[in-house]
Amino acid sequence: MAPQAPSPLFTVDGMQFFGRELGDYLAMFSLPAERLPGLRVLDCPSGPGSFVAESTARGACTVGVDPLYAQPLDVLLARGRRDVQHTIERMQLKASAFADIDLAAYQASKLRALDRFAADYPAGISEGRYLAASLPALPFPDRHFDLVLSAHLLFTYSDPAHGGILPDSPFSLEWHLRSAEELWRTCRGELRLYPTTTRWETPSRHAWAERVCERLEALGGRTRFEPSTFARGNHASDSLNACLVVTR
Ligand SMILES: C[S@@+](CC[C@H](N)C(=O)[O-])C[C@H]1O[C@@H](n2cnc3c(N)ncnc32)[C@H](O)[C@@H]1O
Repeated sequence: MAPQAPSPLFTVDGMQFFGRELGDYLAMFSLPAERLPGLRVLDCPSGPGSFVAESTARGACTVGVDPLYAQPLDVLLARGRRDVQHTIERMQLKASAFADIDLAAYQASKLRALDRFAADYPAGISEGRYLAASLPALPFPDRHFDLVLSAHLLFTYSDPAHGGILPDSPFSLEWHLRSAEELWRTCRGELRLYPTTTRWETPSRHAWAERVCERLEALGGRTRFEPSTFARGNHASDSLNACLVVTR
């Protein structure tokens, strides 16, 4: 008999245009805010989050990339509101797994991020701080950024059988390897990827995170998993709740 596939904690109906505030980014990526001023930063995907606006206000030179930035702001706002609602509803179905998170406060934070994004977006588009592009092809020269951040796309949006939340995901292992290489190509300093675990009822390190490490090490990168303080539910232990850090 074939072994049973592990059961997903939750799934979503499609790609979610969902963003976060600066505090979430600092926790996810184990970054002190003091590191940001003066850095050239890429956030890909940036979604409808306020990291671009907030890190720019703190003196970083940040560019956010997302394929949906080709859309007008009113369309993005409507999509962002809908997707925050959808994601929270799916999390509420497994409320016990998210006992470490106040879901109402969590939702309010995502809506604040969306509002801050919307307020910054018109100026940000004209200043080139928001760019429409898609992994695995980014419109930047080699080693352009000091710090490259990528959250909640790789691993998270893989197929549930592989540990992600997106049924019929287009993001194969090959896509992950090419996308990680592309993020690394644009980076002269440090690449940080989060999260690195499966979204199964019993989480484990996503197998493709190890494959990404092998690929980037073959390209000369040094990889390590750094514990994250981001509350992501499902009793993720410190060693599992980690960000993958790649340095030269
Ligand atoms: C869940 S959001 C993550 C946003 C943010 N990094 C965070 O952690 O809150 C995922 C984003 O990935 C974007 N996306 C989808 N396909 C992509 C691709 N091929 N390359 C880059 N971003 C993509 C979606 O438009 C969406 O905004």
